[in-house]
Formats: sequence, structure tokens, C-alpha cells
Amino acid sequence: MKKKAEICPMDFSRFLEQQLLQIKKKNLYRERPVIPEGVVNFSSNDYLGLKDCKKTKKLLIDNIEKLSLGSGASALVSGYHPVQKQLEEELSCIKESESCIVVGSGYLANTGLIQAVVVEGSVIFSDQLNHASIIDGIRLSKAKREIYRHLDMDHLEDCLKKHKDATLKFIVTDGVFSMEGDIAPLKEIKYLADRYGAVIIVDDAHSTGILGGGKGTLFHFGLKPDENIIQMGTLSKAVGSYGAFICGSKKLIEYLVNRMRTQIFSTALSPVQNFISLSNLKVMMEESFRREKVIELSQKLYNLAEKEGIELNYHGTPILTFITGSEEKALYIRDKLLGDGLFVQAIRPPTVPEGTARLRITLSFNLTENDINLLVKSLKKAVESYHG
Ligand SMILES: Cc1ncc(COP(=O)(O)O)c(C=O)c1O
Repeated sequence: MKKKAEICPMDFSRFLEQQLLQIKKKNLYRERPVIPEGVVNFSSNDYLGLKDCKKTKKLLIDNIEKLSLGSGASALVSGYHPVQKQLEEELSCIKESESCIVVGSGYLANTGLIQAVVVEGSVIFSDQLNHASIIDGIRLSKAKREIYRHLDMDHLEDCLKKHKDATLKFIVTDGVFSMEGDIAPLKEIKYLADRYGAVIIVDDAHSTGILGGGKGTLFHFGLKPDENIIQMGTLSKAVGSYGAFICGSKKLIEYLVNRMRTQIFSTALSPVQNFISLSNLKVMMEESFRREKVIELSQKLYNLAEKEGIELNYHGTPILTFITGSEEKALYIRDKLLGDGLFVQAIRPPTVPEGTARLRITLSFNLTENDINLLVKSLKKAVESYHG
């Protein structure tokens, strides 16, 4: 009889050690940075500067006695408080949808939504550079999947043709791609979706508050929501809070309440957090000067860098990239910038494809033109001093 392999705690410890060594060797080791006081942060998704919104802080202080600190249970049990209902109504209004459901995070929204709606027998068509939470949702679903080349509508159409007889089809795309900053061609996607009878899922994590007057990617392209479009988004980026939402038809939301495992089996967001989201959303929609300034700053950064011979990728959103290719070069530049009091995180695989390591620069309403000038100067110096 074969002897069972003995597993002792030492083996696990050695496994971890070896894995960490491998990660370090490939320049892929990660730590959670604490940005020192006084360093200018070019790596926050707080595009509109709302995570420290003074109006909301004041309102929160005035209302804190009335708000529970925790929800106490999942929404289906007893954790669905009036403030979540109000938040869902506000989001429905902004997204011009019939209904909405708020959940714990964007990761929970995408994994739960896709697993719930993309049932066995259906096919999901997914852009190659979609966010990891979409990829994980697809992995959880039992459906067939087709990954189409980034933004390549001909390839998407080829994939759709291949499965034209499938009953349910879904096209899923980031609205603004998180690591690229480019925008999904939603008009073309809508044309193909209508032609081949597919439902669109658009992840507006980085578009909400920025594109379409703050309403998101659909509105940027002058499209109207309908029952075959699902708008997902997060409350943690331009909204400056935490949580996420899915907007769609009444039937869809009713179905998700019954079928979406990540909201059924997870505690609802705290009323305090939802209160912050609700207040920040109102500021986000009212104070359009915030998005105007952040886009203006992004354009200025691109122009200035170009003048200095630094080629940034810019697509009309607050996410710009400087592709280094090598992980080591990305880390070198990140550390040099930090030496000058500027923080830009180096993004490496598996967050981005192999060979496309980069510095991902995100701009915020709180930054100034002077910050932009300093960044370009420092970036130029770092690039010129690198001899890899
Ligand atoms: C496009 C996209 N979708 C979903 C998420 C996940 O959102 P959250 O951070 O709320 O889990 C993110 C952000 O991390 C994202 O960039």
C-alpha cells in the first residue's frame, strides 16, 4: 500500500518561503505602501477629491446619532436600512434605470452578478483587459466564454457569429479600463449586441462621476439604458466612499435579490457608509467643476510630458500610463519619483499583461498645476537616469 505523504507545518512554511522568493526574483513582490505625509499622491482613484468632502463630513456629524454603525445582517435577513433604499433610488435616478441594488464592493458586484445571470448554456463575451473581478465572475459561472481582443469590434463580431444560436449572450466590458484609461466603444458594442441579441454589462467603476456628465459611459455616448443593458459601478472611486451598485430593470434587480450569492451571503454595508455615499453622490452630480478640472489637468499633464519628450498614454480620462515594459524599470522610476516627494505606483503583472509593466498615473481634483509640473520634471529626470 502506498504511504500517505506526510504534511507537517514545516512544509507549508517552506512553500510560502519559496513562493515569496520566486515573486521577489521576478520583481513582482508587492507591499501595501503607506503614503508618507507630505508626498503628492498620483495613485488614488479619488478622482473628484470627495473622499475628504467637507460637506459630507459636516452632514455626517449632524446625523451620526441617528445612524447605526453597522447594518447588523445581510440585506435579506434584517440589514436593509432605509438609507440603502434611498441610495439605490438616487443611483437609479442618476443612471436612469428602473431599479438598483447596492452591494459591499465592486468585486462582490461583478462576481455575484455574472455568476447569477450568466447561467449554464449561455455565452459571455469579455474584453481581454477587463477587470479581475469580471474575470473571476466568469470563472465562477458555468457558461461558455469568449475573450475578444481589447476594443476589437471585428473580433467581438466574429465571436458573436460563432455562437449566434446560443440562447443567452452577454457582452461584458469595463467602461473606462482601469489600467489603461481608455474607453470602451459602447456605441459599436450596442450595435453588435442588438444585432446578435446580447445583453450588455458595463462596468462603470472608473466612468461614474467622470464621463457623461458624471452619469457614466452610456451617457458619454448618448445611449439610453434599456432592459438589455446592465450598468454596474463602484462607490469607492469618484464617489469617494465604499460599496458598489448594479442598475437595470426591475426584473433584473428582483432576480439578483433572489439569486446573487454575494449579496445573499454577505452582510449589508453599514448605514454610515451608505449615508456617506448618498451625500457624496449628490455633491458629485452638483459640482460639475470637479470633473471639468480633473480632465483639464489630465490634458495638461499629457501636453507637458509630450513637450518634454515623455510619451504618456492619454484617452480623455484621469488615468494616464507610462509603459516601461520591464518591471524593474517601473520600480526604479517609482522609487526615484518617491525620492522627489511624488507617489506613482508601478503596476506589474498579473494586474497588467506580461511585458507591459507601467506607471499608472491617476489625477485628482485636489492636485494643482504645480504638482503636474513637478511630476513631469521628476519623470524626465528618472527616465534619463535609468540605464537598465
Ligand atoms: C473596473 C473595476 N471594476 C471593479 C473594481 C472593484 O471594485 P472594488 O474596489 O469596489 O471592489 C475595480 C477596482 O478595483 C475596477 O477598477
